[in-house]
Amino acid sequence: MTPPFAPRLAIVVVAAGSGTRLGMSRPKAFVSVGGRTLLELALEGVFAQPEPAQVVVVAPESHRAEAVTIGQRVAGAARDALTVVVGGDSRAASVAAGLAAVAEGVEVVLIHDAARALTPPEVFARVVERVRAENVGVIPALPVVDTIARRDAAGAVVEQVDRSQLAAIQTPQGFPLGAYRAAVAAIAPGAEHTDDASVFAAAGHPVVTVPGDDRAFKVTTPWDLRRAEQLVAGDRPALRTGIGVDVHAYDDNRALWLGGLYWPGEPGLAGHSDGDAISHAVCDALLSAAGLGDIGSRFGVDDPRFAEARGEVFLTATLELVRTAGFEVVNVAVQVVAQRPRFAARRHEVEALLTRTLGAPVSVAATTSDGLGFTGRAEGVAAIATALLRS
Ligand code: CTP
Ligand code: MG
Repeated sequence: MTPPFAPRLAIVVVAAGSGTRLGMSRPKAFVSVGGRTLLELALEGVFAQPEPAQVVVVAPESHRAEAVTIGQRVAGAARDALTVVVGGDSRAASVAAGLAAVAEGVEVVLIHDAARALTPPEVFARVVERVRAENVGVIPALPVVDTIARRDAAGAVVEQVDRSQLAAIQTPQGFPLGAYRAAVAAIAPGAEHTDDASVFAAAGHPVVTVPGDDRAFKVTTPWDLRRAEQLVAGDRPALRTGIGVDVHAYDDNRALWLGGLYWPGEPGLAGHSDGDAISHAVCDALLSAAGLGDIGSRFGVDDPRFAEARGEVFLTATLELVRTAGFEVVNVAVQVVAQRPRFAARRHEVEALLTRTLGAPVSVAATTSDGLGFTGRAEGVAAIATALLRS
């Protein structure tokens, strides 16, 4: 039996803000950058940090379900580590909601802005290590590069501030959990704290800095979003391949749709949709190449839009996701393994249809499996596809 998951570290990711300054129609954490939401990008950094941790996502009420879907997709096998709670009207209220969900036994808590979506995993590790070593509050900081002036209400410069004494503060901010909870509980009524460390410091605890990272900048304005888009695009190779496999059993009571074509007189394929193994394998290959998950996680079986849906519907929706993520299809290759239908006579027709649908060459080959396995026993159809994308 595996022991129950009892992490010593919790990471609270606050994502409940509306993003007024960004000015998009959705809350900021759910705005896409290169096909992935800021929350998804932020959680990739969080789950890539080295220590097993409870991850608490604080989401807007309206986007709770979406946060669960995104969180589970990134968490993968570590989904037990994920907790999603609803945030409040202020960042402080959202942090409090997240803190309340931190598990028993946790010793160190990090508070992180989803808006700092590109924060590298090393920054998390650096903060945790220092909290553990010195039992203090720890914040990532960068030197201030601009000259800083203090000015009066009319805009006149009162004095220049010595910038060597200043630091720009980022997240994740880390604390020993017990002392931090006590500090939050002791906040004076009406006190305004602009970050988490100032709450900790107000309770008399020391706070130290560790090096931050340029990539941990906070996406606040449309300009920041463009910068994030360029960074994400620059991170990936110009070409990416993907693979997809799909299998469906024959069902004599259904019509056969395969490769987007209707095959009269042939046994159909079982499935929630039309069972078009070729189209589904191609979708998985495209999603795999784009790093966008798979057909099951993108188009859930409980989504009524896809019940009984034709392969073409999935292909078109997949193509849209892939393009939104900034990719073009270079080509797709499919290998079908099946006793029926006899493919040769209509191979070119399938290729032409899929090529038209994807706007890129699709080649399809078919084989039998010499009587071996489920395809050889004529129990079903298998399709294997590869896709090549360019950025
Ligand atoms: N945040 C939150 N709950 C709030 C307000 C903010 O969880 N009520 C989170 C945001 O989602 C973000 C982080 O705190 O990840 C930093 O806040 P900020 O950059 O100010 O985000 P928003 O408040 O969403 O943006 P704006 O201030 O432009 O409206
Ligand atoms: Mg805000």
